[in-house]
Amino acid sequence: MRKKIFVWNGMLAAILLIVTQACAPKSGQQNNAGMEKMATPEVTKAVCVLKPTEGNDVTGTVTFTKVDGGIEVVADVKGLTPGKHGFHVHEYGDISSPDGKSAGGHFNPENVNHGGPDAAVRHVGDLGNIEVGADSTGHYQRVDKMVKLNGPHSVIGRAIIVHSGEDDLTSQPTGAAGPRVAEGVIGIARP
Ligand code: CU
Ligand code: ZN
Repeated sequence: MRKKIFVWNGMLAAILLIVTQACAPKSGQQNNAGMEKMATPEVTKAVCVLKPTEGNDVTGTVTFTKVDGGIEVVADVKGLTPGKHGFHVHEYGDISSPDGKSAGGHFNPENVNHGGPDAAVRHVGDLGNIEVGADSTGHYQRVDKMVKLNGPHSVIGRAIIVHSGEDDLTSQPTGAAGPRVAEGVIGIARP
């Protein structure tokens, strides 16, 4: 009698195992198929609204637009001292700290050295400098080959930082551009 119960229990366990194994992969496949249908559309435009860090008065807007040959970056800023100001994409879209340091270092997915925007070796985030005139406004416009709006080099969700000083394009790891005076998070824009 004991032996019979043991056999029955064993059979029940075996049936349960078969049922769970048969069902689990099926529902997984259905989920995957559903996700493929809902593939993320390609991002072709992004925008970043700059706000000043604590003690500064810098504002501005940066746009990223997919064009032939790369991503066109256009920035307009005001409230900066005349001269060149380091202008980069930093790793994290976290602008919660008053000094802008929560945005982390330059966006550098390939783990290479800092450089100028036209250098062969550079951080993806190395956009160089934005030049500001006597009227304290600055305009930046160039087509970048390394910044992307999709994939592992995508800058979406990361931060733009404008610095108080000039990026010398050679000092490691940041170009010695000084404190952070403006910051903003890069988000998807209406195409
Ligand atoms: Cu920077
Ligand atoms: Zn850099």
